[in-house]
Amino acid sequence: MSHRADRVVVVGAGVVGTTAAWVAARDRLAEEVVLVDPEPGSGASWVAGGMLAPITEAWPGERALLELGAASLARWPAFAAAVEDASGRSVGLRRAGTLAVVVDAADREDLDRIVEHLRAWGRDPERLTGRETRRREPALGPAVRAGLAVPDDLAVDNRLLLAALREAAARAGVVVRSEPVARVVESGGAVSGVELGSGEVLGARRVVVAAGAWSAALHPALDGLVRPVKGEILRVRARPGSLPPPTWTVRAAVAGRAVYAVPRDGGRLVLGATQYEVGFDADVTVGGVRDLLADTERVLPGIADYALEESAASFRPGTADNLPVLGAVPGAPEGLLACFGHGRNGFLLTALTADVVGELLAGRPMPDESRAASAHRLATLEVSP
Ligand code: GLY
Repeated sequence: MSHRADRVVVVGAGVVGTTAAWVAARDRLAEEVVLVDPEPGSGASWVAGGMLAPITEAWPGERALLELGAASLARWPAFAAAVEDASGRSVGLRRAGTLAVVVDAADREDLDRIVEHLRAWGRDPERLTGRETRRREPALGPAVRAGLAVPDDLAVDNRLLLAALREAAARAGVVVRSEPVARVVESGGAVSGVELGSGEVLGARRVVVAAGAWSAALHPALDGLVRPVKGEILRVRARPGSLPPPTWTVRAAVAGRAVYAVPRDGGRLVLGATQYEVGFDADVTVGGVRDLLADTERVLPGIADYALEESAASFRPGTADNLPVLGAVPGAPEGLLACFGHGRNGFLLTALTADVVGELLAGRPMPDESRAASAHRLATLEVSP
């Protein structure tokens, strides 16, 4: 067993774990910070669209998630600037805003229902007719009947951000170990480290579990708290002579299915995402690709001529109430800090999560706006088996 009096181990090097490790090292919240992941930067963070969109991703019944997302979005400009400053790299924050659009009558009724909820929750997004949406975003096709314009719902380039976070973490002194973690180990009711796949125990008094959908397997107290929710994405690129890609992020409902197109530099778009509860089945399916292409093409007809560059699948970390699990978990050993369960909103909620991790590792309470995500609620929450 390797000892270190004041070591923090962060398990999971996706966007949340890498951020946690960077914050811990930057703020000198431990003598040593070790980030462990068999494939750093892979998984859901690699596949994500990078929407920072609490309004256009809002859903009736999920007010707490909307408020968490809004609190995190307010932190995003400063978070992005801090990562860029610490890494010397761009994170690709896009400020063009998001349009939510619909193509048929049933989807329009759903949109009306969502707008009613948003109004009841103090938000009043701008309603647009089909013609008005096309005037804002000429890449939209004639099938679009109505929409919402949300200039404050942003997006970030997931892969640029991951690279910048890795660099910031390295410059702050984070040690990265590319190995699997078998479990969190404890002694006398407190964390004593993590057991690596090799059997080596890496000693630590504090362990941040940020392994997304894989977190539940790391300690019995986490069992059932998070599950994989599969999502497939495609990456496409405009070719010379193609119609230009949208400038706005486009979030659409097509025959009840949600689809989005998030612009990237170089005429690229991330198209996402399917959603299935099929365990850790990582195959990209023919039906998933067909639906994504057909639904996106209804909304953005120009993509038919684009190059198809990539298809990928990964697993959102889903929780019973769709809120993240942050902090000390009832029944878990002292020193285990949960930092998982960000569901569809990993990138959006990362800015707030950074502050939560900073406060908790410093021994202070989490920020008030993050309380809905506190793991304390699990004492009364019914979890799925
Ligand atoms: N944030 C969108 C998704 O999870 O697909």
